[in-house]
Amino acid sequence: MLDLDPTADPPDCAADGVWLTCIDCAEQFAPFDEIRYTCDDCDGLLEVRYANLPTFDDFEGRGVWRYADALPFDSGVSLPEGDTPLHDVPRLESDVGVERLRIKHEGMNPTGSFKDRGMTVGVRVATEMGVDRLACASTGNTSAALAAYGARAGLETLVLLPRGKVAAGKVAQASLHGARILEVDGNFDTCLDIVQDLASLGEAYLLNSLNPFRLEGQKTIGLEILEQFRDEEGTLPDRIVLPVGNAGNTAALYKCFRELEASGALDPDDVPALTGVQAEGAAPMVEAVEQGRTETRRWDSVETRATAIRIGNPVNAPKALPGIHATGGTAVAVSDAEIQRAQRELAEEGVGVEPASAASVAGLRVLRERGVVSADERVVCLTTGHLLKDPDAAAEAGKDAEPVPGTTDAVLEHLGT
Ligand code: F0G
Repeated sequence: MLDLDPTADPPDCAADGVWLTCIDCAEQFAPFDEIRYTCDDCDGLLEVRYANLPTFDDFEGRGVWRYADALPFDSGVSLPEGDTPLHDVPRLESDVGVERLRIKHEGMNPTGSFKDRGMTVGVRVATEMGVDRLACASTGNTSAALAAYGARAGLETLVLLPRGKVAAGKVAQASLHGARILEVDGNFDTCLDIVQDLASLGEAYLLNSLNPFRLEGQKTIGLEILEQFRDEEGTLPDRIVLPVGNAGNTAALYKCFRELEASGALDPDDVPALTGVQAEGAAPMVEAVEQGRTETRRWDSVETRATAIRIGNPVNAPKALPGIHATGGTAVAVSDAEIQRAQRELAEEGVGVEPASAASVAGLRVLRERGVVSADERVVCLTTGHLLKDPDAAAEAGKDAEPVPGTTDAVLEHLGT
């Protein structure tokens, strides 16, 4: 991973101090002269670079666009997004056994997931490039967000979903916001292969997290966590635990920390340890971390009830794995039963999340039990999507309804009073 140099002059290809750099071969490209998702020369992942790196003094306003100084534009196609709560969960905190536990609930974004932060920037870039059709592969949330932001921008939207493996709430959102939905006979990774082909054929503008501009928007999760935690606790978190699918968020948080460190706004010793959690049945990142590898192996067969992270080929691993290593973090796999337990525990504190989101809390518990996380740590768990995204999973984890006759006497009798 290339280091950011705050003193370097922007290259000639930069536009308003913004350019793209390949993370593998360091080739630099103009940001908006033509559509590209990966390096022209070596096909490596691209990263957005800025002549001016942000400090906390730069930020004004609310939501994602409060952080415009860390983004390629001053404004975007906005619903608006960001400003999500940082919940305290006292019972869970003492039960898991850490000094502080806070839940950054990204399910409180306009379409119910963190994807909105990426789309407000990504769809703005799409309008800048003059495209007329947007597309993504999705386990559900990306499709819901793209459909809403595409609709807002007045653009045609195409989403490819793994047939039978997307939670009901997400399909409903994509459908009502007017996306054309293709149900693909294959898993998410197959859908992404196809969408990448469509994008390279010029059929659509790709808005998966392979698109480097989307990750810029998602970077604001890290900025918000640091600001909120500092304001409420007078200090910074030691660790951020998050669910991992395509590893876009992990990559985005690492970019956030690198930029703040390069600008001098974040002390290197204060960078939180990035800790990724995957479901046991879809854990290529965990495998790579455990085996000390710098690349993931593609899992052709994946399964988990947490369908949002049912992914076998995390395309952002080359950006995310260095982040886990450099911040002293780790990655851990959890079972579907552990995920469901965590989903219930969060719900008992009033925080309603979908299964993939609960993986962060399940992973923290496992790492605490193993002694990897110590009792004196201040931890933020990221919950990425709202409970209502997957009503079936919520019903499975929750209490059954009790049928009763339609009279007060019968209800009293049923209640045993
Ligand atoms: N949590 C939820 C609720 C998600 O929807 C996703 C990804 C993740 C976690 C993983 O995030 O990919 O940045 O590591 N969902 C994508 C989608 C793949 O299509 O909605 P990541």
